[in-house]
Amino acid sequence: MVLEEVKWTREQSGSREGLIQRITENPQLNAGAFSVTTGKVLTSLFVKPITPERARTALSWEECADAASPSPRPGAKRSLFGISLSSIDGDAVTAVFQFFLPHVRALGYHEVYLGSPLPGLHAWKRANPEVPAGDYVYAKRNGLPLDPQLRYYHGKGFHSIVACKENYFPHERSLDHAAVIRGDIDDLILALPRAADPVHP
Ligand SMILES: CC(C)(COP(=O)(O)OP(=O)(O)OC[C@H]1O[C@@H](n2cnc3c(N)ncnc32)[C@H](O)[C@@H]1OP(=O)(O)O)[C@@H](O)C(=O)NCCC(=O)NCCS
Repeated sequence: MVLEEVKWTREQSGSREGLIQRITENPQLNAGAFSVTTGKVLTSLFVKPITPERARTALSWEECADAASPSPRPGAKRSLFGISLSSIDGDAVTAVFQFFLPHVRALGYHEVYLGSPLPGLHAWKRANPEVPAGDYVYAKRNGLPLDPQLRYYHGKGFHSIVACKENYFPHERSLDHAAVIRGDIDDLILALPRAADPVHP
């Protein structure tokens, strides 16, 4: 709840009941990082199982967050939806990913979908009023997504942009738009910073 209040507006943030529901529905699919010295919360991550069809075609974040979890089919690829990631410390995000990604891979999940905000869209639309938002979502600079948050997720291994959605969630700077993006869990693991080479005495 501390991170919800710091990182999200009142309209965007999860309620206490909502967070408890996420944890009780999928106890293995949530993680947090806390400071070893102060105990202060640094990062929270909530995901849930989803079908790729639902993640791709849903009209809103809520539709994915509220969807009933699919029952696993033998041999079928298992997919996750990123409900939310909130953090005040980049190293803590890395620590959570380092723990969480091999953990969900071992549970049989292969890919993660999420709806990313597009915080650069508001300013871009002001400069390019006639151009559809979809063009912004796919726009690149030096081979990387133009939007800072899409660039952030690209760096984390989310290499596919699946769709551009309007009225996806309340997010002012994104003009309520989102990009649905996808990452192979193997790519997300490969994108983790490598441990420093061992130091030989
Ligand atoms: C997204 C988030 C988890 C990243 O946390 P982090 O790993 O500690 O990384 P930072 O916030 O320092 O961002 C790192 C870089 O990513 C980019 N970035 C990420 N999110 C961004 C955003 N919303 N707006 C602008 N830039 C953003 C910036 O380029 C930033 O670079 P900077 O250090 O020059 O500002 C954190 O910013 C957060 O909790 N944001 C609010 C909630 C949110 O948007 N969650 C993701 C929803 S899908």
